[in-house]
Amino acid sequence: MALLDTRKEDIEHHLSKYPDKRSAIMPLLYIAQEEYGYITEEAMQEIAELLDVDITHVKGVVGFYGMYYDKPKGKYLLYICTDLPCALRGAEEFSQHVCEKLGIQPGETTPDGIFTVENVMCIGACHRAPVMQVNFHFHENMDEEKADQLIEDLRREVKATEPYRSE
Ligand code: FES
Repeated sequence: MALLDTRKEDIEHHLSKYPDKRSAIMPLLYIAQEEYGYITEEAMQEIAELLDVDITHVKGVVGFYGMYYDKPKGKYLLYICTDLPCALRGAEEFSQHVCEKLGIQPGETTPDGIFTVENVMCIGACHRAPVMQVNFHFHENMDEEKADQLIEDLRREVKATEPYRSE
């Protein structure tokens, strides 16, 4: 189903905000990502047509910004900062622990589709290292115990809202 069928009002709202409709590219990409979990090839094509630009332009924006995904990701994105200040406070080992707990490597998604782990550069909370961002929420001064608890809580939350999901 096309974005315009499901999110017409939101799309029109953003298009009306800018004198040049091409400026609406970022909010429209967010809408596509919200709608499908990632930005599909079809959504990129639709956005290109809506904005009257070539699809290569849309793909260029998706590829440039780390917050857009052109492949499916987990329901929860765990961004672990491994930049120097966090690394000095054990972020590498912390990331390794989280990955081991989930049975994946950085950049991978758990088979149940719940978690994706990404090691990232500074996310601006160095004074509270190590830091893990889960979707849009920051978790600061992290340690292995807090991470284990958080992962359990998030799993429980998913099971409560999606009881059909198996282990
Ligand atoms: Fe990790 Fe800045 S270095 S948040």
